[in-house]
Amino acid sequence: MTQTASPKTYRVKSFGCQMNVYDGERMGELLEAQGIAPAAEGEDADLVVLNTCHIREKATEKVYSDIGRLVKAGREAGRQPMIAVAGCVAQAEGEEIMARSPAVGLVVGPQAYHRLPGMVEAAARGERSTDTDMPENNAKFGALPARRKVNPTAFLTVQEGCDKFCTYCVVPYTRGAEISRPFSDLMDEAARLVDAGAREITLLGQNVNAWEGENASGHAQGLDGLIRELAKLPDLQRIRYTTSHPNDMTEALIAAHGEVDKLMPYLHLPVQSGSDRVLKAMNRSHTADSYLALLDRFRAVRPDIALSGDFIVGFPGETEAEFDETLALVDAVGYAAAFSFKYSPRPGTPAASMDQQVTREVMEERLARLQAALNRDQFAFNRASVGKTCDVLVERRGKLPGQWLGKSPWLQSVFFEGDAAIGDMVRVQLAEAGPNSLRGTVLA
Ligand code: SAH
Ligand code: SF4
Ligand code: F3S
Repeated sequence: MTQTASPKTYRVKSFGCQMNVYDGERMGELLEAQGIAPAAEGEDADLVVLNTCHIREKATEKVYSDIGRLVKAGREAGRQPMIAVAGCVAQAEGEEIMARSPAVGLVVGPQAYHRLPGMVEAAARGERSTDTDMPENNAKFGALPARRKVNPTAFLTVQEGCDKFCTYCVVPYTRGAEISRPFSDLMDEAARLVDAGAREITLLGQNVNAWEGENASGHAQGLDGLIRELAKLPDLQRIRYTTSHPNDMTEALIAAHGEVDKLMPYLHLPVQSGSDRVLKAMNRSHTADSYLALLDRFRAVRPDIALSGDFIVGFPGETEAEFDETLALVDAVGYAAAFSFKYSPRPGTPAASMDQQVTREVMEERLARLQAALNRDQFAFNRASVGKTCDVLVERRGKLPGQWLGKSPWLQSVFFEGDAAIGDMVRVQLAEAGPNSLRGTVLA
């Protein structure tokens, strides 16, 4: 049932992490270079790219139901879209998707999507193909077109893959080994992003702080070196990075937080659990105390730093007392934001075959308690910000007329009324706090 005409319009639907969002944008640029236009809002696209995520359960089922929905809509509209499956589910289960879903025209993995144009042409001729190659030298980036118009906040993937092998996680399998993109490529891409309108760049990597490279004079650099060089781009106003692993945190990166003004006072540092026994079973290779000590070093150089983390509840064998240790860690940190998940057994990972899987009921109850604590702390952090003066980078219009929405340096959503435009940096005083956002008043 594959469509045979060449597509004129496309839509990319990205799920999962920011790296998928970045990949989705790059796929869009490739398709546009091939003469395929983005489909207008609300209109069916000739080509739909499902850019999938495999991190938690039902990922694969979700892809099949998305495919089913597209086929049904196509039947009703009298023409089938070309369907491409990309991202981490494509990498993990591409062959099976091809075999099970005749409506899928092509399957392309996260390291192979630079070949998307040729695969789309082939699919238009009725030739279905799968490409889940993982070339060692990361050939993909060199084959992508230059960046085009972007939002004031842009993503830049600097590092891909993961060598950490936490026992619950699929990423080392779907994204492959840790690879750093070269320094000069990143400086070029960043300069283009800024020319295209970016005022804030978030450096991305599954283990972004494991990035390493060589600067123009051949000196070895860590992520701090890249950040310091990026900070020299005059029109770039803010730099962020995510996601970091506690074990790759260097003294130099911590120091950069105290020295580089453009580096925002925000750190997303997943911890997963507050129990050393669970952390060991997860193969996290840090303890609750070493994690807390690391945060103290950040606070020493940047006392106002906002902290964020990821948590998993119900890892196999997690006892009530061990879960309480997670709550105690949360109390000790006082997170400004956080993401928390029920443990989900992933095919092929060591934890999936561990004994003592925790029941769904228990996981749900623990997740509710954890989220209550995290929400309490996020609200407290927002309330403690009231009265502060800060810059807000305007990202979009708010719901009410004359209202604008942007982010504070601490990554809080701030809305305000006044004269502004998207991409402006507006000085506001934070006047009122809600659980998920703050109201600001513009300063003259
Ligand atoms: N590379 C990043 C992101 C990994 S995925 C990192 O190491 O932090 C983002 C988050 O998803 C993880 O931090 C973890 O909290 C969660 N996660 C990963 N695998 C999971 C699983 N099998 N079940 C539940 N949550 C999981
Ligand atoms: Fe997954 Fe752990 Fe790697 Fe993060 S560090 S991507 S959680 S294996
Ligand atoms: Fe998901 Fe792949 Fe990202 S599994 S979280 S899209 S690296």
